[in-house]
Amino acid sequence: MKILAIESSCDETAAAVVENGRVVLSSKIASQVEEHKIYGGVVPEIASRRHAEAISGIVDAALEEAGVTLDDIDAVAVTYAPGLIGALLVGVNYAKALAYSKNLKLIPVHHLRSHIAANYITFPELKPPFFCLIVSGGHSHLVEVKDYTDFRIIGKTRDDAAGEALDKAARSMGLSYPGGLNLDREAKNGDKNAFKFPRPRVQDAPYDFSFSGLKTSVINTIHNAKQKGEEINVADLGASFLNAVTSFLCDNTEKAAKDFGHTKIVLAGGVSANSVLREKMEALCKKNNWELYLPRLDLCGDNAAMVGAQAYYEFLSGNTADLSLNAFATMPIDDITV
Ligand code: KG4
Ligand code: ZN
Repeated sequence: MKILAIESSCDETAAAVVENGRVVLSSKIASQVEEHKIYGGVVPEIASRRHAEAISGIVDAALEEAGVTLDDIDAVAVTYAPGLIGALLVGVNYAKALAYSKNLKLIPVHHLRSHIAANYITFPELKPPFFCLIVSGGHSHLVEVKDYTDFRIIGKTRDDAAGEALDKAARSMGLSYPGGLNLDREAKNGDKNAFKFPRPRVQDAPYDFSFSGLKTSVINTIHNAKQKGEEINVADLGASFLNAVTSFLCDNTEKAAKDFGHTKIVLAGGVSANSVLREKMEALCKKNNWELYLPRLDLCGDNAAMVGAQAYYEFLSGNTADLSLNAFATMPIDDITV
């Protein structure tokens, strides 16, 4: 089954053709990063406009790269939630128009589910059940993936997502957008023990995350240094902050995996590209003799190949939509509405 997949939930307009959920025939991404950089983050109105401009070209390019036409496509899949509503609507409306005009099946895909599915492309043998840490710009979840379309949230963030905290901290250190990626690069030359950060805990919720305290702490450190006229070593501060964030992510993953009896650990989302997190997870899984699955670096961030991968399993579960499909800014991973 060949699925044409579309992704427009944030600042990448992407299209891909994926066969039977695992074989990527093409994957194209038009990134808006350069344009949002001057504002220090994604401007939703600009994102929607750029999606509208790029979408037909990127879909054509994906079809061409795959060597197919719409007549060879069996279904069109689209990210419909969660994300920036105006951005999502561009993809959803384009997919609906294609489905209507070519009489194709329409498959709505939840964005976080698709991030997990990036691992089905990276590891063709990977099958649920497994335990997944999803870390993106908007979400930080610990999830039991019981089956391809059956999820149970074990822990989540109470405030900022990990990626959001990294982006904000990076910005306050003077690093440009996308902050998480630049912080990763900068921190490589830093001393992770140079600055001390609190070890956050969420009362009565041992698997939940909270990153706002860490973020405030880094901002205060910078303000205090400025007031005293001291130079901050950004590499040291970045390395220390990244160490605190990734330790928190790893500690909760370890605790939850042990308590719920999981030995197969999967990472997903943009922050799973982070080199410190990948190293720590490798050490953690080695220590516990657990299997670890890290998504291929080019599949960690937003792309449409992962949407096409998850769409196949949504289709097999009967999760298709009609032309009344809408987009939603928020939507839990375990309780989807179409
Ligand atoms: O999954 P994603 O591409 O988009 C959302 O669904 O949010 O995640 C974007 C997040 C941003 O916060 C970005 O800074 C972060 O992923 N990110 C990284 C790295 N690459 C991207 N964070 C840390 N280290 C990286 N190498
Ligand atoms: Zn994403």
